[in-house]
Amino acid sequence: MNIVLIGFRGTGKSTVGKLLANRLERDFIDSDKYIESSTGKTIKRIFEEEGEEGFRKIETDAIARLSKMDNKIISAGGGVILRKDNVKNLKDNGFLVLLEATPEIIHNRIAQDEKTTQQRPSLTDKTPLNEIKHLLEQRENSYKNASDYTINTSYISCEDVVNEIITVIDKQLN
Ligand code: S3P
Repeated sequence: MNIVLIGFRGTGKSTVGKLLANRLERDFIDSDKYIESSTGKTIKRIFEEEGEEGFRKIETDAIARLSKMDNKIISAGGGVILRKDNVKNLKDNGFLVLLEATPEIIHNRIAQDEKTTQQRPSLTDKTPLNEIKHLLEQRENSYKNASDYTINTSYISCEDVVNEIITVIDKQLN
């Protein structure tokens, strides 16, 4: 079974995913990086050339392939929950952990993250904080419906998030 981290940009999926993979001695896969290495293009370039719709198609193919793998820790791009097929495929062999954070904390984390320039093109014409608030509201139900377990990462360390996931997974498997 895979452990899949879902949630909006900046909720800690990649950082937590890498730590979790180390602790559990499993491989870590970031779906955005997987897309970039299989297409040879940055996420930003895919958006520029093919628009969001083109990116979502590529993402759906990538998620279908990742879902067939086993025992991986997968950090899924923030928009995977927008397509039912993605959620279904990930759930077939995965436990989905939703990471959440407040819009302000997400905004600060994204602004400081080097991943932002190449992997996080604007998704609306709103200012960054308003875009975050708007999309969180729009996606809230999809995130909740997809998740098997939810952790708010706003005020706890990544290590504590990892510990909580390990406890939940242990309970789930035993
Ligand atoms: C997106 C999130 C990004 C990336 C793309 C679209 C989204 O992934 O897939 O820029 O729609 O929320 P991260 O959540 O890993 O930043």
